[in-house]
Amino acid sequence: MSDDHTHVQAFFTARAADWDRRFPDDGPAYATAVAALGLREGGRVLDAGCGTGRALPALRAAVGPSGVVLGADLTPAMLRAAARAGRDRDGALLLADVAVLPLRSASLDAVFAAGLIAHLPDPAGNLREIARVVRPGGVLALFHPVGRAALAARQGRTITPDDLRAEPNLRSLLTRSGWRMTSYTDEDTRFLALAVCAG
Ligand SMILES: C[S@@+](CC[C@H](N)C(=O)[O-])C[C@H]1O[C@@H](n2cnc3c(N)ncnc32)[C@H](O)[C@@H]1O
Repeated sequence: MSDDHTHVQAFFTARAADWDRRFPDDGPAYATAVAALGLREGGRVLDAGCGTGRALPALRAAVGPSGVVLGADLTPAMLRAAARAGRDRDGALLLADVAVLPLRSASLDAVFAAGLIAHLPDPAGNLREIARVVRPGGVLALFHPVGRAALAARQGRTITPDDLRAEPNLRSLLTRSGWRMTSYTDEDTRFLALAVCAG
């Protein structure tokens, strides 16, 4: 386990029990972001960095009972909170690092990742691993229920031009990682970047 992972796990372990109570009104925003993936009945989707599994009910609704929904996270306490909330009924929970996913290549139609990329020590390498498990033409959604400026204000910092999620930086990062960015939205009430797997 790297130092980065120890830090991430400590950070989210301390927040796991209260995570859903801190953001009680985000449900509709997650549902709208999931809809942007264009999933079909019977589809196969991963929630990467699923945390307490807030997106899992919407993902399950999108693919129906015949679909496959997986939630992967590095922090056991977040997955325990997901199970306590009953989210394991909507998707299978995996204790896994997105750097090395225990999934077959090209086995998924889509990946949803909310609040994940800012925490990755190697965003390009990790996005390449995520691309590996998605079929060519499959879709990635990088989502946050708050836009970049509003999040920075909440955290008491300012956004610098080297911000990973600034549009030109993210477009370039995705291109280097096996993705083609197809849409980018950064407004107060949501951040959503969509990309297609180049295959
Ligand atoms: C900001 S939280 C978001 C959780 C959830 N997606 C949500 O929207 O409520 C980020 C999550 O990513 C997980 N995470 C961070 N790095 C990870 C990695 N390398 N592999 C898997 N999960 C990771 C953390 O444990 C944490 O649960």
